[in-house]
Amino acid sequence: MSKRKVDRWHELCQLVATDDGRPVREVGIWTEKKLWFWNRYVDIVTSAMVGHPMWRTGLAYVDLFAGPGVCVIRENGRRIPGSVLIAAHAPKPFRRIVACELNPDLANACEARIANTSAAGRCRIVTGDCNARIHDILSAIPESVLTLAFIDPPGLDAHFETIRTLAAKGRVDLLVLFADAVDALRNVGQYTTQQDSNLDLVLGVDSNWRTRRKELNDCTANRFRILLADIYRGQLRQLGYSQFGEKIMSTRHGPLYRLVFASKHERGLEFWDKVTKKDKGGQKDLF
Ligand SMILES: C[S@@+](CC[C@H](N)C(=O)[O-])C[C@H]1O[C@@H](n2cnc3c(N)ncnc32)[C@H](O)[C@@H]1O
Repeated sequence: MSKRKVDRWHELCQLVATDDGRPVREVGIWTEKKLWFWNRYVDIVTSAMVGHPMWRTGLAYVDLFAGPGVCVIRENGRRIPGSVLIAAHAPKPFRRIVACELNPDLANACEARIANTSAAGRCRIVTGDCNARIHDILSAIPESVLTLAFIDPPGLDAHFETIRTLAAKGRVDLLVLFADAVDALRNVGQYTTQQDSNLDLVLGVDSNWRTRRKELNDCTANRFRILLADIYRGQLRQLGYSQFGEKIMSTRHGPLYRLVFASKHERGLEFWDKVTKKDKGGQKDLF
């Protein structure tokens, strides 16, 4: 009997190992952990749900902050696939892949890379600000599908209203990079005095974060980050999300950001829990 393939990450990295001359995104070494997790999630969910009687209409994939499709790790020059290429190479195919990217050069690079995969005919690239183009993005998603959405902004850029619009499409499981340490904490002074700051837009304008921050007895950086995560989950609950997972991504200098997983269904969280039990080295979760 053949041994089950546990991890396709190495194979995916091999596919993008050679420089194709197109733009790449330079990233810190922690990005590989994030994309490794996400690849495992995509792998497990598509393997279980594509062709499942519950989802005869299929699965869709959305990346609101797509990048060029390939990342290069600053510390060691290693090339790794971005989320759209991960989705294009899912073990069982998504019916539709929708990727949005603000920078036209990066959007073109992503499109060209997808064109070389079997997902080419099933992929739609939207160039522009995902917050402004969310209705175009939605119109590319077929009706009644299970959608996996990867929301991976550089900072506090994914507006809550965008998430609200996306979530109204039906069963949409989310993985959101919530830039609590790298953006919210660093810029809280500015956000406190600014009306409709990026933090307001990301948490939702009715989040009440300023008052809740004032109410914290001892507002350490850590307590503020925990409060923000709590507020964000509360806002997602109002959209019908009830199942949450999270992963804090850190360097030895401290936390960077929080990955917030949200699903409206217990099964989504079961998948996420399976994925996050182990780290990239194959050991039990160490971070
Ligand atoms: C962290 S990278 C995304 C990486 C990508 N998800 C991957 O897996 O490789 C963020 C990307 O979002 C793009 N971006 C920034 N603001 C945006 C916006 N409002 N709408 C769409 N894309 C945006 C940036 O140009 C950048 O390429």
